[in-house]
Amino acid sequence: MESFIRALPKIELHLHIEGSLEPELMFELARRNQVSIPFGSAAEVRAAYEFSDLQSFLDIYYQGANVLIEEQDFFDLCWAYLLRCQQDNVVHSEIFFDPQTHTDRGIAFDTVIDGLQRALEQGRTELGISSQLIMCFLRHLDEDSAFDTLQQALPHRNKIIAVGLDSAEAGNPPQKFQRVFEAARNAGFLSVAHAGEEGPAGYIRDAIDLLQVARIDHGVRCVEDSELVQQLVASRLPLTVCPLSNIKLRVFDTMQQHNIVELLRQGLCVTVNSDDPAYFGGYMTDNFLALAAAHTMSRDEIARFSFNAIEASFADAGRKKQLESSLREFYSQNKADNNKGESHE
Ligand code: ADE
Ligand code: ZN
Repeated sequence: MESFIRALPKIELHLHIEGSLEPELMFELARRNQVSIPFGSAAEVRAAYEFSDLQSFLDIYYQGANVLIEEQDFFDLCWAYLLRCQQDNVVHSEIFFDPQTHTDRGIAFDTVIDGLQRALEQGRTELGISSQLIMCFLRHLDEDSAFDTLQQALPHRNKIIAVGLDSAEAGNPPQKFQRVFEAARNAGFLSVAHAGEEGPAGYIRDAIDLLQVARIDHGVRCVEDSELVQQLVASRLPLTVCPLSNIKLRVFDTMQQHNIVELLRQGLCVTVNSDDPAYFGGYMTDNFLALAAAHTMSRDEIARFSFNAIEASFADAGRKKQLESSLREFYSQNKADNNKGESHE
């Protein structure tokens, strides 16, 4: 099963690029930019990654982003992530970035997006990895700041497929951003939102009804509302679930208690993602392996996460077709474990 998981073509739909900043690169950028960080070594940084909840993570995550200053820093960050994608057979990725984390420190919006965009372009040509950018509003900040960010994004409309909503969920409901999401939709952006990670199932409903999102990020607390679960089965509105993140941030106590496999079996369009891999102990393959270690799943079920992610993705129709036919080919060649003659059909 491990080799099947490693080789499986994967599609990532929930990845914060700032959350892929590995401690080694954090140190290199701190040195390069003469930014002081409160750690003596990369090992010390890793040792500090013990989180009790979402906020305890966000405090450290925003601090880490302070080392990102120059366009080249954003390129290096994104390129390092794409090389990890290549290792994990991630063939398409939709990447969140948080402009306010940078513009609030005086870094120009253009510096951020130009660096990311250059890496993504190189990823396409040199690694064959397709990608999209999703710009998130930080929900702990106010509506004015989100409107200001949307304004700055307009000249880059062709480089950003969607807007999203992240950061501290509890106490920052979707309603707070209803008007800015409406303006973003009118400007041609698709939309997604984090909901039902730490916040209640009602926030998932509100993200769907008030923000008209095409996907919910996390969404695992949907199980607290059985009608909502039925609605998600019927609509196939996707959830981008992040198993290792949910354990690290104590959304579930153990991976055995994680509900993604149950949601898959109920017919929801659930997908597997890494969220902030440098902070949560793993990239895409690690997330699949951790799930498979805790839950008995067939190859069909594991492959279904990738089929769901293609269905849920914002890739254009031509790319989706390519992704689907290469996944189908992989699956038909690998659905049985030839060593054991096992089949899960
Ligand atoms: N920003 C980065 N990771 C996040 C998460 N898991 N939830 C909310 N905001 C985030
Ligand atoms: Zn996230």
